[in-house]
Amino acid sequence: MPKDKDKDKDVWIVRCPKCGRVTRGCKHVTPEDLARIKRLLSAGVEVFESEAEYREWEAGAEFGEIPRTHLYTVMQPRATLGDVVLSPSTLESIGDALVELKHKRLIFKKWGLADVVRKNKGVSMLFVGQPGTGKTLTAEAIACELSRPLMIVNYAHLENMWVGETEKNVEAVFKAAEEAGAVLFFDEADAVFHRRGHSAMPWTNRDVNVLLKHLEEFPGVVILSSNLSKVMDKALDRRIDIAVEFEMPNAQLRERIFKKLVPKKAPLADDVDFAELARKFELSGGGILNVVRQAMRMAARAKRNRRITMAHFVKAAEREAQKGILMSKDYLGPARQAQRERIGGYA
Ligand SMILES: Nc1ncnc2c1ncn2[C@@H]1O[C@H](COP(=O)(O)OP(=O)(O)OP(=O)(O)O)[C@@H](O)[C@H]1O
Ligand SMILES: [Mg+2]
Repeated sequence: MPKDKDKDKDVWIVRCPKCGRVTRGCKHVTPEDLARIKRLLSAGVEVFESEAEYREWEAGAEFGEIPRTHLYTVMQPRATLGDVVLSPSTLESIGDALVELKHKRLIFKKWGLADVVRKNKGVSMLFVGQPGTGKTLTAEAIACELSRPLMIVNYAHLENMWVGETEKNVEAVFKAAEEAGAVLFFDEADAVFHRRGHSAMPWTNRDVNVLLKHLEEFPGVVILSSNLSKVMDKALDRRIDIAVEFEMPNAQLRERIFKKLVPKKAPLADDVDFAELARKFELSGGGILNVVRQAMRMAARAKRNRRITMAHFVKAAEREAQKGILMSKDYLGPARQAQRERIGGYA
């Protein structure tokens, strides 16, 4: 049990996943369980979900700090800008960002922009557009273009129910990105940058403020990606240097995406007509990728003489279009948001 002077510090609150807060025991947690849990927690017993998690903790503990490497995933980008098919206006905005990054010394030092901007400013970009329009792919391509790794933030781990921990997590992510010289990527940034004061907001105002501050001071490249810019925090506006809209591709772009996503090695039947498919089906790039995959699955079912035919593509595209209708009703619906909601209510 805690010593007297720590009495107030260690008040353990036990919550049953079915019944909620348990004060005297419930159907699932008996009073004896409760007493034992509290005794163990007060004694400092900790539980880890896996061997890997324990080892990670052990390694960090040697240096006196909690390891925070699970907060992000670092990848070496493989896709280039040549792999992405974008409208001229989207390409132009991305070109702007790249020019500034590639000629940072010229613009900031030689031409004196540093005197005006006054901060060790990197470049922050906001990618907005419907799902599957190539935002993640473009972030990867930008990292590739700059020969830097891409660091993708894992929200599920970033947010922590303990007071002050989310803040430390955010700090750790920006620090790690700076040290690695990585392009920092906040996918689905709306999860975090919801307008402050919004009732369903999963992050506390304080956490968002910390994030905005880091965003402002980060000397590297940070990209935020979102499906819905409208509900995003106004304060974010002035911290974003370049906002890029990813539109749904038109028929011409869709045809180019089909051609890009169907591998050269794929055995196409003579009747396959990408222009026709592109005209007929209003799909995003992600949708087209699904169609290509599905058409291949259908073609692979044949016992011999396997060819991917126009009929396979059409059937796959019809299925994808149908899926699009179903999903669009729900793609930002309660189910997807619920996962992000705070468990408990400690902070
Ligand atoms: N404009 C595009 N050009 C070429 N391929 C594309 C394009 N858009 C999407 N794709 C294909 O679809 C896949 C999924 O796209 P991506 O993950 O980049 O979409 P997104 O905009 O990040 O979607 P979300 O909002 O759901 O995260 C890509 O890996 C790529 O194969
Ligand atoms: Mg994405």
